[in-house]
Amino acid sequence: MRIVVLVSGTGSNLQAVIDAVAAGDLPVEIAAVGADRPGTPGIERSAAAGLETFVVDFKDFPARADWDAALLSAVAAYEPDYVVSSGFMRIVAADFINAFPGRYVNTHPALLPSFPGAHGVRDALAYGVKVTGCTVHFADAGVDTGPIIAQAPVAVLDEDTEATLHERIKVAERELLIKVLGDLARA
Ligand code: GRF
Repeated sequence: MRIVVLVSGTGSNLQAVIDAVAAGDLPVEIAAVGADRPGTPGIERSAAAGLETFVVDFKDFPARADWDAALLSAVAAYEPDYVVSSGFMRIVAADFINAFPGRYVNTHPALLPSFPGAHGVRDALAYGVKVTGCTVHFADAGVDTGPIIAQAPVAVLDEDTEATLHERIKVAERELLIKVLGDLARA
């Protein structure tokens, strides 16, 4: 199973996938890792691991539709079986979803449909929920919408800050993402 992984930031979840592949625990080929901005740790990690990388810099495209088209053609060139959004902070266009129907996988640090959006951890904490978690789902053109594949709960502690809670969620998120990708690869 060939995947293209899209990242915007740290890429610690991506690193877990890279490590699982390297350890022989995940029967997946990472065809390439792409980002929407240059100089992200996620791209640096990937290059360090010897993976192909590409950047479709949002700032290079004054018209949103041109960025959408460039991203689609960059990803499609690798002919992936699945595209994985791992901390990729852009909503992709309908054309992108249609190009990879049921094959665009996203991870989100909350139990969807609760707390979608860029601040899922902060919003869950602010609401005062006692249990939150992470969701791996097939993304559609909405904000963190689309069929849920798997979820894992994470308890909220009284002393949690957004950072401490997100870190514990990411531990669960990495495990869940690797399990989902393994299940898809073996299906
Ligand atoms: C993850 O929690 C992801 O769900 C969210 O941003 C985080 C990415 O972390 N959208 P990293 O870049 O993998 O460290």
